[in-house]
Amino acid sequence: MDINTAIAEMHRAVTLEALQSLKVHYLGKNGLLTQEMKALGKLSPEERKERGRVLNEIKQALENAVRGREKELEAQALQSQLERESIDVSLPGYAFPAGGTHLTSQMQAELLSTFRRMGYSVVEGPEVESEFFNFDAINMPDWHPARDMQDTFWLKDSGDFDVMGPEGERVNNLGGLLMRTHTSPMQIRYMIEHTPPFKIVVPGRVFRYEQTDASHEAMFYQLEGLVVGPDIAMSDLKGAILELARSLYGAQAKARFQPTYFPFVEPGAQFALWWPEREKWLELGGSGMVHPNLFKAADDYRQKMGLPRVYDGMTGFAFGMGIERLALLRYGIPDIRYFYQQNRLSFLRQFKN
Ligand code: DAH
Repeated sequence: MDINTAIAEMHRAVTLEALQSLKVHYLGKNGLLTQEMKALGKLSPEERKERGRVLNEIKQALENAVRGREKELEAQALQSQLERESIDVSLPGYAFPAGGTHLTSQMQAELLSTFRRMGYSVVEGPEVESEFFNFDAINMPDWHPARDMQDTFWLKDSGDFDVMGPEGERVNNLGGLLMRTHTSPMQIRYMIEHTPPFKIVVPGRVFRYEQTDASHEAMFYQLEGLVVGPDIAMSDLKGAILELARSLYGAQAKARFQPTYFPFVEPGAQFALWWPEREKWLELGGSGMVHPNLFKAADDYRQKMGLPRVYDGMTGFAFGMGIERLALLRYGIPDIRYFYQQNRLSFLRQFKN
């Protein structure tokens, strides 16, 4: 065994494993040095003493070499681990995909904030509605031809689903069940529960049983408005719609009303907003002065429930409009089916806010 070769080998070891096997080779239980130590017993006492001293020095030297190289290799390993695992904090991070607000929700939020600013409360009603609130109570009895204006999804009455009355009472004499065809039934529901004066808007989904095409969907959103008080006049309606126009399209915006028929209002008017930037009228919805039959229906219901009649001498206005329609007109979207049926992200992302 040559000590210089052994030490040189240890210095050349490039891994801790290689160093370990050298250590075993020389210093292990059957290692070269160990064997020489074992051979000491065969020597004379003087020789043994001298040889023993030399072997001990060799052992020291080898152990030092192992420990020294061990430290070097460990330091190298740590260094390369640090390099491997280091984080470059200047690299750009991952962009987590974030959702956006659906175009309809954006439009709805914009409308609601406009009306909130004008002091309106925002309320919502059920999508599964009774024939009574959707039609009868708002002056559309079953013989009324205006019912044909709105094709209806009727629900099979399974007997275990009742539409709740406004006060949470279970009512079963309200006719058939249906998906509400408009948000107007909330006019009656709200009037039954509240004492005028009040101003409300009602956003929500409505359903129509019809063939879909570029301008018709079986489900869409409406915004209903109802204002009732002792002296509400048509001019208040015009003021509210004008304010809506200005909030959407700036100080140059205008509102226009044209007489038309809706059973729940008298007189009734469709309204359009003037969009100055594009110089065009946008036909947005219907409106009018609340028909006296609605006040009567609300008071009759209240009376049945033991509540006082509160609508004698009241007047009010109402309006209703399609929320998607506002977006269609504003952005020139050619087909209402893009909103829900296709619902492609490539479409929705164009309106990411
Ligand atoms: N409910 C009507 C519809 O869905 C819209 C409407 C028209 C609502 C006139 C109103 C109104 O409140 O006064 O076609």
